[in-house]
Amino acid sequence: MSKPLSPQTMALVKATAPALQQHGVAITTLMYQRLFVDPDIKALFDMAAQESGAQPRRLAAAILAFAQNVDRLDALKDALERISQRHIATHIRSEHYPAVADALLPAIRDILGDAATDAVLAAWAEAYWFLADILIARERELYLETEPA
Ligand code: HEM
Repeated sequence: MSKPLSPQTMALVKATAPALQQHGVAITTLMYQRLFVDPDIKALFDMAAQESGAQPRRLAAAILAFAQNVDRLDALKDALERISQRHIATHIRSEHYPAVADALLPAIRDILGDAATDAVLAAWAEAYWFLADILIARERELYLETEPA
């Protein structure tokens, strides 16, 4: 379990919610462009859901919901469970998470522009790993259930 986010980190992340509401799909579309430079990562995804815009919209909604509820993650329980189930179905592993961080954080920086101060980006980096650790832990449990040793 990762260290809880500080009140300052939560406040910085929460303060980006209005910008994410406005620019979330631009951020995730740019993120996927960066991510798909790696053909092995690209192969994990259903390209029809990319081209229709469905997956960039789903990820943008998840990131916005996370920013809005970062101080009360209970509200996200069902959504996180659904994401983990989908990740299991598409064979996502903990070792994939750094590539998403490396694609998402620069996309936040590029789209938010001046609003993405160093403090905001540091808060988002910490928040990304906090969220990733929750998903990774749940996915590990689900893999253990489906792949007995
Ligand atoms: C904190 C990090 C992450 C978040 C918040 C996240 C969020 C999501 C969401 C909201 C969905 C859609 C679930 C649905 O069907 O309703 C999804 C699906 C998916 N995610 Fe993630 N994800 C994360 C990390 C990753 C990583 C590291 C990978 C692998 C590179 C990945 C690959 C996928 C794939 C392949 C799908 C299925 C999309 C499809 O149908 O093509 N995700 N994720």
